[in-house]
Amino acid sequence: KKYKVAIVGATGAVGREMLKCIFQFNFPFESLKLLASARSAGKVVEYEGHEFVVEELTENSFEDVEVAFWSAGGSISEKYVPYAVKAGCINIDNTSHFRMDPEVPLVVPEVNGEALRNHKGIIANPNCTTIQMVSALNRLNEYFDIERIIVSTYQAVSGAGVAGMEELYRQSKEVLDGKEPIAKTLPCAGDKKHYPIAFNCIPQVDKFDLDNHFSKEEMKMVNETKKIFDKDIKVNATCVRVPVLRGHSESVYIETKKPIDIDKVFELLSSSHGVELYDDIENQVYPMATLFIGDELVHVGRVRKDLDNDHALSLWVVADQLMKGAAYNSVDIGLKMIEMGLL
Ligand code: A2P
Repeated sequence: KKYKVAIVGATGAVGREMLKCIFQFNFPFESLKLLASARSAGKVVEYEGHEFVVEELTENSFEDVEVAFWSAGGSISEKYVPYAVKAGCINIDNTSHFRMDPEVPLVVPEVNGEALRNHKGIIANPNCTTIQMVSALNRLNEYFDIERIIVSTYQAVSGAGVAGMEELYRQSKEVLDGKEPIAKTLPCAGDKKHYPIAFNCIPQVDKFDLDNHFSKEEMKMVNETKKIFDKDIKVNATCVRVPVLRGHSESVYIETKKPIDIDKVFELLSSSHGVELYDDIENQVYPMATLFIGDELVHVGRVRKDLDNDHALSLWVVADQLMKGAAYNSVDIGLKMIEMGLL
């Protein structure tokens, strides 16, 4: 069977990758509708010899759509997904809007694909930082039983969309030209102040929760990891924006119930679906963001047992967050649903 498909937010950083992934991973489509704001209506998008004319997203866009991939922002999903559900469309949503809704499965296919069976027309794609972490840790959690995760992220500017990438390019040039870099978007488009990202690290991704002093991005890692793995897992996250265009890196420390057997760790990581063990320190082999642009896997290196705690392990996890962290995971959810007979 082939499906009538739509991409909502098709002109955005993730939307463009969704189009690529639909072709690259052979999502079987009969028709493909590209939706964005009125500003983009009529624009022509070309991909591998196919031409698509972008249409404006409206309440009536889904009458002839069976599967929609969403990445136009939380408020757009909040407003329009209900119309799509009413029209009988299955919605795979990359925004944060529905993620913590108990009625909505939050899915990384190789980790908790079975949760898809309970969907009611909406499936949420987790936050990019959560996806690559739970994908890397899944087999370790099954075997060693993770109690606590402490993670620091090094996140690329493309996580803030096309505007984030433009800002890094422009500011880098401003600095190299001897000018003062002008900040308009980062760390967070909707917050009061903006700081330069060129030649800098910013310890803020998304707005802050003034009650607990964590950022919303950090709380996504906490809450989504609990929803996907186990509500009792303790998670502490520090999310940092770095001047990298594409690809998030994470320094992950875990504490486990079972003592760490390092040979078993390597065996599990090298046989984890969707994960590539990329670890050979003698030859200075470890994952770096620039190595894996456009790649759909999660790459793990710098794997080492803690020096003091026999139940603890450190690792370094890198993925192209526009791919595994967003577009590829969404399309893979669709493919998994076909495989499970749910589409
Ligand atoms: P547009 O390009 O027409 O503004 P990014 O995350 O890279 O900033 O991309 C955001 C995506 O969401 C773009 O495709 C953008 O379309 C789309 N978008 C933003 N606002 C709306 C809206 N009001 N209706 C539909 N799509 C929207």
